[in-house]
Amino acid sequence: MGPWPNDPLGPQARSSAEIYWIMFVAAIVVLAIVDGGLIYAGIKFRDRPGHTAKQFHGHNTLELLWTVVPTIMVISFSVLSFQKLNVMNDTSGAGLTVNVQGQQWTWVMNYPKEDRFKLTDGTYLQGAQELHIPVNTKVHIQLSSKDVIHSFWVPNIGGKKDAVPGRNTDLWIQADKPGTYKGQCFEFCGTGHADMLITLVVHTPDDYATWIKGALAEANRLNDPATKKGRETFLSLACVGCHTVQGTVAQGKVGPELTHVASKKSIAGGLLSPVNEENLTRWIHNPPAVKPGTLMPNLNLSDEQIHDIVQWLLTLK
Ligand code: CUA
Repeated sequence: MGPWPNDPLGPQARSSAEIYWIMFVAAIVVLAIVDGGLIYAGIKFRDRPGHTAKQFHGHNTLELLWTVVPTIMVISFSVLSFQKLNVMNDTSGAGLTVNVQGQQWTWVMNYPKEDRFKLTDGTYLQGAQELHIPVNTKVHIQLSSKDVIHSFWVPNIGGKKDAVPGRNTDLWIQADKPGTYKGQCFEFCGTGHADMLITLVVHTPDDYATWIKGALAEANRLNDPATKKGRETFLSLACVGCHTVQGTVAQGKVGPELTHVASKKSIAGGLLSPVNEENLTRWIHNPPAVKPGTLMPNLNLSDEQIHDIVQWLLTLK
């Protein structure tokens, strides 16, 4: 960003920047005329010995001027604002439509029901917080909210819009250049409001196809019916309070991260190696028995629960 308060990097943002500059320049001119006149009159007509004020009433030309000119200005700004609103709301001709839902305190991105976004279980690609779009493509954002009012805004790309519970709102975005752009929920929505960030990742068309492939593979891995039960069991238990598995609600920081646990050389601080079904089972079954003094408690899980969890952990490579 340069010295200016805005830095538009897409047509939507440029459209808003135009009206910003028109109003800003008009405001400076009005400020100069009003304050200039005030200072001039203050000096020229100040109280001095030997001068008596002329007594007269009104000045038709002046009064007409300062009524008509501001009226014309306000009407012009209104017309201009409505035109820009029409631009902001015109989602026609979009090359991609993403359904974005705000919730306390994240954004859920639902990609369209197109074959290229389809997962093996028949559902479609979903993301959180990160929105991936192709460059130079008009992207229609269908906004909704699960709970309270949020507001979707990526400043450089423009087009701020509220996400309102119980109804859908629409806007579009488009980026000139590939890159990562920061956005932020712009409506106070509770204690997590400040953390309700948006990361907009803009790809070249080739990169976009590659990204979709990778995201589908990752989602399919997490959704695999063979390990789904284990994942659900893990995520429903106390495990999530201590361990992090990226891409899930497990974000605990007390124990080791398990995002790629199946690729590790050992677990239990090096006591159990390699990381296989037998060792994982033994560990989860009774951690303090394997490693006295470990912070990981024996959760007294059933053999079935342990089996399911281990099957899932083995997919985390
Ligand atoms: Cu969501 Cu502020």
